[in-house]
Amino acid sequence: MGELTIREVRARDAKPLLAMAEEAFATEISALGTDVRRLARWMRLMTVVYPVQKHLPKPLMVSLMGLVADQPVGNVIAEPGKEAWYIQNVMVGKDHRRRGYGGALVEAVCSRAAQAGVPRALLHMREDNVAAYGLYSSLGFQPFERVYAMLLDPQGAVQSPPLPAAYAVVPRRRYDPRMLPIRDRCQEPGAAELRGPSPMPRLLERAMGAILRPTDAERLAIVSAGQWVGIYQYVQGSPTESVSLSIAVLPEHRGRGLERSLLARAVNRAGERGAKRLVISVGASNAPLQEACQELGFATQFVGVGMARPLPPSSGPGRCLRGPRLAGDRP
Ligand SMILES: CC(C)(COP(=O)(O)OP(=O)(O)OC[C@H]1O[C@@H](n2cnc3c(N)ncnc32)[C@H](O)[C@@H]1OP(=O)(O)O)[C@@H](O)C(=O)NCCC(=O)NCCS
Repeated sequence: MGELTIREVRARDAKPLLAMAEEAFATEISALGTDVRRLARWMRLMTVVYPVQKHLPKPLMVSLMGLVADQPVGNVIAEPGKEAWYIQNVMVGKDHRRRGYGGALVEAVCSRAAQAGVPRALLHMREDNVAAYGLYSSLGFQPFERVYAMLLDPQGAVQSPPLPAAYAVVPRRRYDPRMLPIRDRCQEPGAAELRGPSPMPRLLERAMGAILRPTDAERLAIVSAGQWVGIYQYVQGSPTESVSLSIAVLPEHRGRGLERSLLARAVNRAGERGAKRLVISVGASNAPLQEACQELGFATQFVGVGMARPLPPSSGPGRCLRGPRLAGDRP
């Protein structure tokens, strides 16, 4: 067992990172039909963006590599937010596990977040991922929400009921600020307070989005009495990838038929365009969307669990004390 060193990601890490991700996330890659070439472009882009963002007031992403004898053994990425840093892509190469490297990488990124003054770190994991659950719970993460990843392989056209009376859909721009409060209010109870208000993506993020432009997309606002009451998004990254679908309806407008009508719209679009699979993430408390998914034959592929960890206070500048407290939060 060699000694672990941790440093920021560099351009030459893109290749070993991709190989590691293909092995570590094989289940997710196969379920989502992820286009590995697109994933490779994203990873290359990340390693290029990394030095550029050092000149920004706040980083877009923090990506840390774990190395033993100068060889990459693991990686962790975090998206810095105001109330929380969102951790993703925690992975350790399969020949290097159970040596404390995963824990050390997560600790390193949490320590950066604490220095930046945020009160907590958040992440999502698959409920059946025993190693991840063992790792995160040993580091003091606690569950705060459950979401179902539901999948459908469309088998021809489905009946498409009209939108309920008093509702309409209109095309919307990808970065329209009116979608932000809807996104926040449509989260699972308590989750939005932990995450903090969704920010408008910054220019660099938008530029990355433009470079990795999806092959098919439909973005709509759901409107009632002149007000936005929901957002609908249908995105297919590449012709082989699953369609990533998102339907967010404000709680007071749920269960009136919007969910069923919009799901059918997506299923029929996927059928017309030859998309093989649709994937949607549904909060455990959103019964109307779950029921509409089940009616159309969507099945739960896995359950995701949101985990949060309170961070120790920083003596540095920028400490943020806003947001609700978690059990074990600092006083
Ligand atoms: C999850 C993962 C990153 C853990 O990395 P790791 O370097 O093996 O973790 P560590 O050695 O730091 O383990 C720390 C603690 O986590 C728990 N743990 C780790 N792997 C475990 C396993 N397979 N089963 C049960 N508990 C486990 C243990 O409590 C362990 O402490 P211990 O070894 O003293 O008992 C690694 O298994 C991995 O890359 N898996 C594939 C990708 C993945 O699922 N990532 C998580 C996405 S949310």
